[in-house]
Amino acid sequence: MLEFPQSFATREALLIELAPSILSADFARLAEQVGAAVQGGATVVHFDVMDGHFVPNITIGPPVLQSLRKAVKVPIDCHLMIENPDAYIPAFAEAGANWISVHQETCVHLNRTLHLIKSHGCLAGVVINPATPVETLSEVLDVVDYVLVMSVNPGFGGQKFIPSTLEKVRTLVGLRNANGTNFRIEIDGGMTLDTIGEAVRAGVEIVVAGNAVFGKGDPASNVQGLLKAAQSATLVRV
Ligand code: DX5
Ligand code: ZN
Repeated sequence: MLEFPQSFATREALLIELAPSILSADFARLAEQVGAAVQGGATVVHFDVMDGHFVPNITIGPPVLQSLRKAVKVPIDCHLMIENPDAYIPAFAEAGANWISVHQETCVHLNRTLHLIKSHGCLAGVVINPATPVETLSEVLDVVDYVLVMSVNPGFGGQKFIPSTLEKVRTLVGLRNANGTNFRIEIDGGMTLDTIGEAVRAGVEIVVAGNAVFGKGDPASNVQGLLKAAQSATLVRV
């Protein structure tokens, strides 16, 4: 039985984490490619679930997660881009998810959904699209373990980073300082060697990258390069 922390209580002590998004991996060689990314220093695997309704694309579900769970030891971060996530959270938890995030835009009863995730022993995250203001999260910042800021419109890998989303990261850092809350901040979309530094300087602690890890070349050295760029940015963070 694998053991994972059920809270981010040691947030301050953690370095920047790189979470490769398997959306851009070769699914016929999934375990091998994710294994290489972990060898390169990835500490979380990002698992994108799309339903063809909330986002205009369809991806993968619990059976793939269950197989991947057996192949990797690091936590799996399940990003649910689906309508009615409450109906599927138990299945993803059962299949081996460690972190589960839901979109604010899909949850009528967001507080209930976040507690449902926690009741299954997973860390709970909330995601906001580029057009959704941080203010919509004000009543759940003391409930969530992490906030995922989308820096592209969700649905596809390999899209261009939207720089204005970093203002939301800065706002979240400010709110966390003001409220004494302890959530971590993740970013997803368009992260490359050119964009990762500014994201980290804005306050991001967990970086999702798909195309930059699996698009071309060796996933292990791609992860190493991204982490190096992220770590050098932390040195100049104010
Ligand atoms: C987009 C997904 C992302 C995506 C990131 O809807 O949620 O996780 O795979 O891919 P890149 O890093 O290629 O933008
Ligand atoms: Zn994602």
